[in-house]
Amino acid sequence: MKKTAFIWLAAFSAFLVGIFLIWVLFQPGAMGMLRVNTAVRLACLAIVIIAVLAVPVAWLSTLLQSHGRVYLGRVAIVLAIILALPGLLGIPTVFAVLSGLTQPNIGDTPPQLFVTASTGAHGLPDLALAFNTTKVAAYTLTWGKTAGQTEETILTEAAAVRTHAFILTDLEPNTDYYYRLGDGSPCTFRTAGDPLRFAVGADAHYGAATRSESASTEMLLQIADPQNAFSYFFLVGDTTHWGFSKSHWSVALRELAGTTATIPLGLAPGNHDTIFSGYDNYLRYAHPDSLLGDNSKLWTRIDVGRVHFFVIDLGWSAEAFTEEQAAWLESELTAVPAEDWKIILGHGFSYASGTYNAGRYRYDNPETIACLVPLFERCGVNLVFSGHNHQMEILEKSGVTYVISSPFGGIPSSPRTYQSPYSLWYESGQYGFADVTITEDEAEIVFRAPGGSEVYRHFLAKSQP
Ligand SMILES: [Fe+2]
Ligand SMILES: [Fe+2]
Repeated sequence: MKKTAFIWLAAFSAFLVGIFLIWVLFQPGAMGMLRVNTAVRLACLAIVIIAVLAVPVAWLSTLLQSHGRVYLGRVAIVLAIILALPGLLGIPTVFAVLSGLTQPNIGDTPPQLFVTASTGAHGLPDLALAFNTTKVAAYTLTWGKTAGQTEETILTEAAAVRTHAFILTDLEPNTDYYYRLGDGSPCTFRTAGDPLRFAVGADAHYGAATRSESASTEMLLQIADPQNAFSYFFLVGDTTHWGFSKSHWSVALRELAGTTATIPLGLAPGNHDTIFSGYDNYLRYAHPDSLLGDNSKLWTRIDVGRVHFFVIDLGWSAEAFTEEQAAWLESELTAVPAEDWKIILGHGFSYASGTYNAGRYRYDNPETIACLVPLFERCGVNLVFSGHNHQMEILEKSGVTYVISSPFGGIPSSPRTYQSPYSLWYESGQYGFADVTITEDEAEIVFRAPGGSEVYRHFLAKSQP
């Protein structure tokens, strides 16, 4: 082997690291993660230093050998190889994982109902029945009102695909419907009525080894129980632990489907969901609107009669909340009649109690507060549901109520060391979700433990315009 070969090898390693880091900077969520996470920044710096250091060490090895210091030269070669290995082997492996290029398909996931952004003739959101199959196939869906079953609709996919989505339109309130895939068994669900009752969770982190499967399962059983009469189930971000992992999406969709086959699911993107190729996975697996060709953006409006939900895209902080998204939110909020309910569903919090550790502030976020709070207050937002901090909390400021309804399985956050001045109630160290009932002029928010027991109840009178 030529003496200079090790120098070229080390230089190639440094080149790969450089190219990789440039690629990283352009990936969804990566800049946000680098900004808020000191550990990740230090890891990137360490990778660069190690890769660059390999070059002079390899050069030193040739110098030592040419001066007859053979033993020292060989030691330097070994050291140069050790320094170059992360770039030569580690970087291609990490790239393959983050980009999703080498991952197998998501496989089979059961049919489940998703809320879409389109509103039917009777004021309810149209629903998408979505599922995935290992093999390409074209399915037929039959659906209609359960009573009488006289007006059934038959939909057939135009082409054989792996990711399937049918849209159920113009649903009537307070009505029982059924759907049947092919010759399968029918599945029934009941549409929303008045008052509107829905469940909100966050931070399920499906795929994480540290998550509590039993807590999620218990909560899903509560939400699916017909006696509890939930009409929708919203998960406000970090549904997956790493959204670039198709296996994490597979686990999430399979676990959720037992409930969401009958309770329509609405998702908001979290920083863990859309990072790197997670963005594409999110659009493909969690956002049937994009499959239906209506919307490829992650922010959507969902209308349920006089209750209007605004799903917003927030990442690690406010970096995903673009000017375009802000303009959209303001125009949509302004278009809603002042007497209607305006509810925000977005992963990252504005106000929250929390902790400071490892260079990360996890409480009242100055960036999201600056971007969002003036808009919320100006446009008469009533309720804001968030996650990100794995805790339950109610906060109130200037007529806007902020609710953190987490975690739905992810590790609970450690107890707060900072209390937000706007905090009304706070609980950490346990799993839970919010059970929300909305009438014309009042909202009742009940935080529930996994088994369904009440943790805290909050009443909110709708402020008059
Ligand atoms: Fe989380
Ligand atoms: Fe998060």
